[in-house]
Amino acid sequence: MKTLFRGGTVVSGKGTKKADVLIEGEKIVQVARTITPQSGTRVMDITGKLLLPGFIDAHTHFDLDVSNTTTADDFESGTLSALRGGTTTIVDFACPNKGESLRYGLDLWHKKADGKCSCDYSFHMTIDDWNPSIEAEIDDMMAAGITSFKMYMTYPAMMIGDEAMYFALKKLKAAGGICGVHCENSGVIDALVAEKKAAGENTVACHPQTRPAQLEAEAVSRLLRIAQTVDIPVIIVHLTNAAALREVEAARKRGQKVYVETCPQYLVLDEGVYDNPDFIEAAKFVCSPPIRRKTDQTALWAGLRKGEIQTVSTDHCSFTTAQKEAGRGDFTKIPGGVPGVETRAELVYTYGVTTRKISLATMCRALSENPARLYGMYPRKGVIAAGADADLVIYDPLADHELHAADMASRAGYSPYEGFAIRGGISQVWLRGTLAVDHGQVLVGKTGRFIPREKNSL
Ligand code: URP
Ligand code: ZN
Ligand code: ZN
Repeated sequence: MKTLFRGGTVVSGKGTKKADVLIEGEKIVQVARTITPQSGTRVMDITGKLLLPGFIDAHTHFDLDVSNTTTADDFESGTLSALRGGTTTIVDFACPNKGESLRYGLDLWHKKADGKCSCDYSFHMTIDDWNPSIEAEIDDMMAAGITSFKMYMTYPAMMIGDEAMYFALKKLKAAGGICGVHCENSGVIDALVAEKKAAGENTVACHPQTRPAQLEAEAVSRLLRIAQTVDIPVIIVHLTNAAALREVEAARKRGQKVYVETCPQYLVLDEGVYDNPDFIEAAKFVCSPPIRRKTDQTALWAGLRKGEIQTVSTDHCSFTTAQKEAGRGDFTKIPGGVPGVETRAELVYTYGVTTRKISLATMCRALSENPARLYGMYPRKGVIAAGADADLVIYDPLADHELHAADMASRAGYSPYEGFAIRGGISQVWLRGTLAVDHGQVLVGKTGRFIPREKNSL
């Protein structure tokens, strides 16, 4: 069956153009100024609408056991939520515990995800330990299509020291893998937390105060100096602030290759969210690194515009307000993370594109093309071109609406963006040639497929 999308504006990482797009089966077969449909071809008139490549969210945490609980969203609700938000591929973090093998972690994440996903999916592999047997497994991961890794410079259960990080990066360089790193200075955070507790302070505002921007910038700087020593490109995940971005700029000036991801919560929210006197209303926004200042938002939008930031993913890590209650007597026990996998594209379009902070092409690069290249899925994913998967988002610039958690598929039960005004809206999502979401209604079952990935090509 062939389907022709006629009359729309096709968006790519280079710009926009009026073009028709023909798909057949799961693939895009032709993109041209005008395509005449053959008999039997279904024609979708998308005049006045934007046609974008399906979005890729390369940073989700579904079905993750953390902070003595499990994230509210598993792969079922998480990928349903993703698809409704135009995300046709997610990359989640497989996370073996310290002492477990990478293979065990990968098998466990396949068990969590396989047969449960509404959109396509893949995994990064977390390295939270370093020893000869883990080193030996890196090549196995690459062969299994797991070509990207993650390390944490904070969180006792997952963090890795500088020496282990050096050896791990050396091995990844030899194997051709790429690593994303959570950058925060764990030791000084512990000291600041001890000071707050000694002073009897326990408001939610203690969370951002004990994880300040400069301690993220310090960790970014340290990571980049380790990466310089190894001579390997690295990814800074969920970068939040101007000082951290300046460390990236300095590394690039000395010739290093650095990729940067930020997230919608850092682009459209500011630290004022932690000042709400209602514990739960403030705890809803607890994530690490925390939400920063308005001036940091400005720096992040400018970084996106100038190409200093390559991707916007969500770090979707959802907990219900009942789960957030765990931290009422101790701010360090608030489960960290916010939901957002369903709202990313509409927020970036509304608060980035329509306010002219970034162009549609930049949005397309940040949400589709760059993650596809960086994580080894290009040109199968991330682009509207012959041969690519027919993952498509039809965006109606006139369908203004508001965001409400009650309309979303996430089990978090709330949205950090409740009541936010949205310009336009996603009207349809196509997953590998099938109409998957029509005006919010999900029309497909759990047809998401595991996507084994190649090496970084960004
Ligand atoms: O608070 C957050 N962001 N939780 C998710 C885990 C992480 O740090 O990425
Ligand atoms: Zn992180
Ligand atoms: Zn994360």
